[in-house]
Amino acid sequence: MDLIIYHIKTLYTSIHQPPVKGERMREIIAIDDAFVHVKDGLIAHVSQGDYIHLITKDTKLFDATGLIMVPGFVDAHTHLVHGGSREDEFALKLQGVDYLSILKSGGGILNTVAKTREATFQDLFQQAKDSLDEMLLFGVTTLEAKSGYGLNLETEIKQLEVAKKLNESHPVEIVSTYLGAHAIPKDVDKATFLDHVINDLHEIRKRELARFVDVFCESGVFELEDAKKILLEAKKLGFIPRLHADEMTSLGGVGLGVDLAAPSVDHLMAITDEDIKRLAQSHTIANLLPATSFFLNKAYAPARKIIDSGAAVAISSDYNPGSTPSENYQFTMQISGTKLSMTPSEILTSATINPAFLLGLDRRIGSIEVGKDADLVLLKAKNLDYLIYHYGINHTAYVFKKGKMVVKKRQIFYEEA
Ligand code: NIG
Ligand code: FE
Repeated sequence: MDLIIYHIKTLYTSIHQPPVKGERMREIIAIDDAFVHVKDGLIAHVSQGDYIHLITKDTKLFDATGLIMVPGFVDAHTHLVHGGSREDEFALKLQGVDYLSILKSGGGILNTVAKTREATFQDLFQQAKDSLDEMLLFGVTTLEAKSGYGLNLETEIKQLEVAKKLNESHPVEIVSTYLGAHAIPKDVDKATFLDHVINDLHEIRKRELARFVDVFCESGVFELEDAKKILLEAKKLGFIPRLHADEMTSLGGVGLGVDLAAPSVDHLMAITDEDIKRLAQSHTIANLLPATSFFLNKAYAPARKIIDSGAAVAISSDYNPGSTPSENYQFTMQISGTKLSMTPSEILTSATINPAFLLGLDRRIGSIEVGKDADLVLLKAKNLDYLIYHYGINHTAYVFKKGKMVVKKRQIFYEEA
C-alpha cells in the first residue's frame, strides 16, 4: 500500500523526544503545503512542496487542499466500557448534591457498577463500540480504557474482555487498565475488598488483560496507604501503576506516583505546589482532565503552573457515565485553551506525543515522523489556533489509522473486522 497525501495546508507535529516538558511543549513544527508519503501503514516521507518524483504506478493520491493535518489524538484516560448511563442522577447533581455524596449514598460509580454487572458481554460491547466510533470521529486513534465498574473479578474480566475484543475488531487501538480499586462495593468492608483486589491482580495478569493498574486515591474512597499497597503488589507482578490523584482532595497520590515511577498521575485539580515541584523533577506526566472539572463544576487543574514549573502535561477526556459523559475529545482540547490557559501548541503536544509516551507507545505513535504508524487526522480548520478557538464542534474531515482511511468526509468509513 502506497499513498501520498498532498497539498496539506499546514502540517503540525511535535518532534521532541518525550516526555516533552515545560517550555518545550510549545515547540512544534508547522510545515505549509506539506505532503506525507505512507508505505505499508508507516510514514515514509514528510516534506513540503514537490512529491511528484515519489509517485509510482501503485501510488494512490489524496488531495488535502484546504485541510490541516495533525497526528492522531491519543486519549490516555477513559472509562470506555460501562453499562448504561446516569441521567437518573442528573436532577440531584443539578440541585447541587456533590459527586462524592452521591457515591456515599450508594449511587454514582456504584450505580454504574449495578448496571455493568447486569449487562451482557454483547450489551457492553455494543455500547462501547458506539462510543468508540464517536471518539474516532473526533480524531482519536488510540486510547486507554479502564475497568472498574465490576468490583468483582467476573465483571472486571467481562469489561476487560470487551476492551480486548474491541481492540481486535475496531480501528482505534486500545490499551487496557485494571481499576479494581475504583469504589468499595456496598456489601463488603474495605479491608476484605482490598484483599480481593490484590488477589485478583494475579488472575488479570495470568490472562494478560491489562497493562496498567489504576487506583482512585481519594478521601473516603481509597486512602494513600491503600493505593500504595495495591500498586506495590501490581508493580511486583509486572503491571505499570497509575493513579487518580488529587481529584477532589490532595492525599499525596502525586508523591506516590513519582516514587513508583508511574508514567502519569491523573486529574490533579487539588495538587499542591510541593507536588508540582516533584513532578517537574520526574518523568511522570501530569495527565489533566478538564472536561471533568467542567461537568462537575469544580476547580481546574493549575496547568499553567505545572507547565511553567517544567513538568510534562497530557490531556485526556476521562470519558465516563458520571463525571464526564462526553466522547468529544476536541472539546477537551478546546477547554484546555479557555480554562487551563494552555497555548494551542502546548495542547497539541498534550494530545499526541505526551499521552503516547505515558501509554508506552511513543516509538510508534504520537507524532508525524518517518517510521511511525501513519495515524493522521485531516481537519477542516484554517490553522491550529482555529481548531482550539472555534469550540464545541468537530473539525475532523478525514482520519487515517495505520495508513487506512477510517473516517471519510466526517463519516465512519471502515470495514468491521
Ligand atoms: O475519573 N473519579 C473516579 N472515576 C471517574 C468517574 C467515574 C464515574 O463517576 O463513573 C473519574 O472522574
Ligand atoms: Fe477517571
